[in-house]
Amino acid sequence: MAHEPVLAGEVTDFLAPALEEGGVFVDATLGRAGHAKRILERAPAAFLVGIDRDPDALEASRATLAPFGDRFVLVRDDFSNLAAVLERLGVAPVRGVLLDLGVSSPQLDEPARGFSFRNAGPLDMRMDPSASLTANEVVNTYAQHELERVISRYGEERFARRIARSIISHRPIDDTEELAEIVKEAIPAATRRTGPHPARRTFQGIRIEVNGELEALARALPAAVGSTQPGGRLAVISYHSLEDRAVKRFFLDEARDCVCPPGLPVCSCDAEARIRILTRKPVKPKDAEVEHNPRAKSAKLRVAERLATKRKAAA
Ligand SMILES: C[S@@+](CC[C@H](N)C(=O)[O-])C[C@H]1O[C@@H](n2cnc3c(N)ncnc32)[C@H](O)[C@@H]1O
Repeated sequence: MAHEPVLAGEVTDFLAPALEEGGVFVDATLGRAGHAKRILERAPAAFLVGIDRDPDALEASRATLAPFGDRFVLVRDDFSNLAAVLERLGVAPVRGVLLDLGVSSPQLDEPARGFSFRNAGPLDMRMDPSASLTANEVVNTYAQHELERVISRYGEERFARRIARSIISHRPIDDTEELAEIVKEAIPAATRRTGPHPARRTFQGIRIEVNGELEALARALPAAVGSTQPGGRLAVISYHSLEDRAVKRFFLDEARDCVCPPGLPVCSCDAEARIRILTRKPVKPKDAEVEHNPRAKSAKLRVAERLATKRKAAA
């Protein structure tokens, strides 16, 4: 049930210049503190703020990071509240922020959390166990068109309509094993024989809906840039194309000095690049890492550096 930090060497290498002088660093997806531990080891003068919405993650990380004494603080919150958390702690602007998106291995591997299509467990899938929306509500109460939207948009599943129809006709559905079997049966046999587990995409879609993952990311990215000091760095690891697309688009927008419509003779916008992209292409794990940790396979790391505000400096 351990969690192997993904692209750990690459992440710390990219963050190293921002860490050299110490300062505050934020791991906004603490998980089992795999990256956090490496950051604290690499930067002996740094202080770490670790955020997670899963209390189990915080408890386990507290033990892992105990040898670092008073060099860290852990906060239970949603990373979409990043700016408020840092303001409350009085530590903004910080030297850098890491977002390692998605779920951790202990969350996936614990059947009682309901994330796994391989083990029987309750239809839960909440990262924050006190949140109100569960997978059970999505699976057993959503209208067919809503289910289809979740499975199609968030799961990027081309058989979403068939799956949604089948889920409705099998209600009530009691657990993850039953759901996985229903999804599998709804997918054409020829397709089922190739590729990953046939329920993988549907489970991903429901998980993203339950945890509001894309909304949280959309709020966290601007907050992370806004909370980072010039020269500081923002690193984001994503695990599926929806997340990666959102990060890529956000980085490109934030790295532009002008957002005027094409064809205008002079720039009339007030935009100013806030970041410089350090990874022209996303960094992917090497074969050896994927062999050792298959969950790293789909990972993509994008890193940007915070720029100083030019206009304000000139004024
Ligand atoms: C992939 S794991 C991070 C693993 C970590 N980097 C490590 O090496 O142990 C993602 C973690 O982020 C947390 N998480 C995901 N979305 C979150 C959000 N919106 N707010 C706070 N924590 C979140 C999950 O609960 C999970 O523990």
